[in-house]
Amino acid sequence: MGTQESDERAGGGTGRRALLGAAVLGAGGAVLGLSGTARAAGGGPGGGHRGGLKGLPVPTVIGHRGASGYRPEHTLGSYELALDLGADIVEAGDLVPTKDGHLVCRHEPEIGGTTDVADHPEFAGRRRTKSLDGVATTGWFTEDFTLAELKTLRATERIPANRPHNTLYDGRWEIPTFEEVLRWQDEQTRRRGKQVWIYPELKHPTYFRKLGLGTEERLARLLREYGKDRQNSPVVIQSFEPTSVQRMNRLVGNPLAVLLSGADSRPWDFVEAGDPRTTADLVTPEGLKEIASYAQGIGPTLDLIVPRDSAGRLTEPTALVRDAHRAGLILHPYTMRNENPFLPAEFRKGADPDGYGDAFGAFRAYFATGIDGIFTDNPDTGVLAREDFVNG
Ligand code: G3P
Ligand code: CA
Repeated sequence: MGTQESDERAGGGTGRRALLGAAVLGAGGAVLGLSGTARAAGGGPGGGHRGGLKGLPVPTVIGHRGASGYRPEHTLGSYELALDLGADIVEAGDLVPTKDGHLVCRHEPEIGGTTDVADHPEFAGRRRTKSLDGVATTGWFTEDFTLAELKTLRATERIPANRPHNTLYDGRWEIPTFEEVLRWQDEQTRRRGKQVWIYPELKHPTYFRKLGLGTEERLARLLREYGKDRQNSPVVIQSFEPTSVQRMNRLVGNPLAVLLSGADSRPWDFVEAGDPRTTADLVTPEGLKEIASYAQGIGPTLDLIVPRDSAGRLTEPTALVRDAHRAGLILHPYTMRNENPFLPAEFRKGADPDGYGDAFGAFRAYFATGIDGIFTDNPDTGVLAREDFVNG
């Protein structure tokens, strides 16, 4: 089965890869070196055609689904707050299509978990169970709604057990389209006098292509229309499906990144094509060399950089940072979150699912591995952690 989900609903819900291992608490971050050196993207060993990425600070702080630690994810409110909090790039957004072919910003096609669709009796009959990348999934799916219908919905907090304060904002924002994001990016760039960067991700591209809703061409068309389809455009494109990234490589010049889930997982496009390789094959020097022939970076789960033991504590870093850099790839792993259940066990403080642990300690441990950036739900914490790291 392919995997495209982050670890979520930890301590409070039912996410596919919820992180509810034993919470073994202890003194933090022992084994990893702590001092850092200021780098600029492009100044290190990684990455061929990185275009304007070179101008961004390293480690680069990427606002995951905006500032989703503080606002319902994938809303203009979340994206704007990420910029206010100092994110260098905003993940705006994860992209899925509507029935009438518009790209909208949702983490997955199923929208019951992040909108108020269940409160709309007019859509009760749209509830379905579908096989999504081999997983039976029940709810409401973007591909069954027109854009006009989706625009009647409002975004809600995905993980209220971990982020009860965010529910204050339930109902405030609608689902953005990617076209609105492109306009928002220009408006924010003008308003702030500084280039705003975005990092859209194509979600489930093989699933949607089989439905006749290929998303790569739609994304490329929009980027072209807005003059953001070039090597130095402030738009980095990512996907968990390598063939989708290859397709984008043929369509546009933007920097590209291949996302990597757990070592045993298989990208869904590989499953559909009968390609037996797993993520473990992709992170070998040979696998990385192949990725570097069509992409500039990888977005591995943090556990591929520093695996955790059975108690959830960090172990020794793998060779992935070194090997990726040798292949000319930059690394933007995901996802750092401040709340206890999402942190490595030695950085947790107590067991409250909505309490913060020692997130600075965890950032420090991950930055020390030499990564080029990180996706985080808490960009302000990430920016301060980078300052600490760079200043030694
Ligand atoms: O795109 C980086 C990271 O967002 C991948 O995980 O599941 O949160 O999209 P996910
Ligand atoms: Ca994503």
